[in-house]
Amino acid sequence: MKNVQAQPGEDALPPMIPTVKRFMRYMGPHKVKLAIVVVLMGVFALLEAIFSLLMGTATNLISAGPGPVGPLYQIIFWLVSAGFIIWISGVLSQKLLSDISQEALYRLRIDLVEHIQTMSLDFFDQRPIGELMSRVTNDTQVIEQFISIGSLQTGQAIMTIIITSVVMFLVSPSLTILSYIVVLALVMVSWLITKASGPAFVLLQEKTGDLNGFAEEWISGAKTVIACRQQDAASRRFSGMSRKVADIGEKAQFSALISQQVSTIFTTVVIVTLLILGGIMVMNGMAEIGTLIAFIGFSFSLLNGFTTIFSSYAQILNAVVGAGRVFDVIDQKPRVGDRKDAPAMPAVAGDVVFDHVDFSYIPGRRILHDNSFHAAPGQVFGLCGPTGAGKSTIINILTRYYDIESGSINVDGCDVRSVQQDTLRVQIAQVLQEPFLFSDTIMANLKYARESATDEECIDAARQAKAHDFILQQPNGYNTVLVDGGTNLSQGQRQMLTIARAIVANPRMLILDEATSNVDTRTEKLIQEGLLALQKDKTSFIIAHRLSTIQHANQILVIDKGAIIERGSHKELMRAKGFYFDLYMSQFRGKLEGIVGV
Ligand SMILES: Nc1ncnc2c1ncn2[C@@H]1O[C@H](COP(=O)(O)OP(=O)(O)OP(=O)(O)O)[C@@H](O)[C@H]1O
Ligand SMILES: [Mg+2]
Repeated sequence: MKNVQAQPGEDALPPMIPTVKRFMRYMGPHKVKLAIVVVLMGVFALLEAIFSLLMGTATNLISAGPGPVGPLYQIIFWLVSAGFIIWISGVLSQKLLSDISQEALYRLRIDLVEHIQTMSLDFFDQRPIGELMSRVTNDTQVIEQFISIGSLQTGQAIMTIIITSVVMFLVSPSLTILSYIVVLALVMVSWLITKASGPAFVLLQEKTGDLNGFAEEWISGAKTVIACRQQDAASRRFSGMSRKVADIGEKAQFSALISQQVSTIFTTVVIVTLLILGGIMVMNGMAEIGTLIAFIGFSFSLLNGFTTIFSSYAQILNAVVGAGRVFDVIDQKPRVGDRKDAPAMPAVAGDVVFDHVDFSYIPGRRILHDNSFHAAPGQVFGLCGPTGAGKSTIINILTRYYDIESGSINVDGCDVRSVQQDTLRVQIAQVLQEPFLFSDTIMANLKYARESATDEECIDAARQAKAHDFILQQPNGYNTVLVDGGTNLSQGQRQMLTIARAIVANPRMLILDEATSNVDTRTEKLIQEGLLALQKDKTSFIIAHRLSTIQHANQILVIDKGAIIERGSHKELMRAKGFYFDLYMSQFRGKLEGIVGV
């Protein structure tokens, strides 16, 4: 299997047999149904052969000249019965297979989405969301199409070829050889044509994935697209990519169409060739006319069987590529994984120790250098420093979204890498820089923090976060459904809701990453009260550009280029007259200038 660090646009055809085998495991629970389908396919193929034989017998009877019509009616009765059973077995196996495929696909989709949920953040850093979405929807759909329709046709075709060949050989070995030569010659041509169409279908699927990724990004970033007046550029790029998909699609479909048409033409060629060669044999008394008719029928079935297999080739490739892409994701191991025997993190007091921590998101590009600090339970730590300094990164590794390169991070003496990550995170409430809300009611969004929270607790938290009033102004108050993650709220309101959510969670540790950066200073003052209450008795890490929000911290860490360059209380840092002092003074001066109007 191809290595799984696949980037969009570099999908290759995964090995066919292992991929199919692996997918078959998803059909495993339906062994009985599958066995019935195989039996039905056999019945289908056998009756097809019998149908041709009966046609031959009827021809012999008619060509024998005047006589009783009873036997002919009998043959016709059997012909009709065979036709009916062929039809029934076809419909029944189709129904069974589509049931099986739906069930298998259901399990595959669940496996895929559940696996995606276990991935660590670096996985999402590397992949456009739309491309992932394409794997969940597009690729699984392609597999489903093949199993519910393509596999039936292919299976039936294989059965038909085997059974018809056996019956043919039993009836007349010489005519069998003749028919095979004619059919195989035509099949070779057909194979060459369909071989050309295979790669086109693989490319089509890959480019469709890219197109989905692009559309997702540009639609979700609609506001920025409009603001940057990029609508035309986006349309042009989309139309360029779309054109490519359409062109490849046309080519792929055209070659599929050609191979279908070729099989129709070949049918005529088979009849004509067999009529000439077989006709000569009949004229020379080497075969009966009925046998020749039966063989024309057999050759039909053979040719049909082979061309079906070849025309399914593209569909099989599609399904294999789709399954390969899905398995690619399922095979990815989360970089930040729990050890097998990792215990749950016990309820913590909130003692956090960073000991000589180095960290890189991308190997070789170090972001944090030798970070060490100790936050005792209940202490408030302020983090400040320039944009891109590494403040959010410190939070990302404390919550173990990423694993560190060297050094250690301990909470209550426990290395964060040694415990189940979920049980660590549940003990840390976070208000992140980019507030994220679910497309659900406001109340449900607050309860995401703690399922057991009561409505009263949530309303109380909203009051503390000063969100209660604006929530009541929403059309349905707390039951208002947020559209697309809260786009029907202002940025500041969204932030206030995430603060309320942290208040609902109320664990021993708290992270506020620019939690009030989007609210006006008056509201910030109001919220501050709630936030201070929230920080009480919790080990808190507060990242702020506005230094006034961290003045009360027990310790302030000044981060620059990934290193802690200064530390101490506000007073100590002001006295030191270093980086922090300059930063504070520039903000203070800015404020003063605002007031005085200079
Ligand atoms: N997911 C990521 N993958 C790779 N590099 C990243 C990732 N996230 C952040 N970085 C890099 O890490 C560095 C520190 O980023 P970080 O988000 O910690 O900065 P910050 O101090 O929080 O800045 P800000 O004040 O703007 O929020 C930056 O140079 C950034 O480019
Ligand atoms: Mg940040």
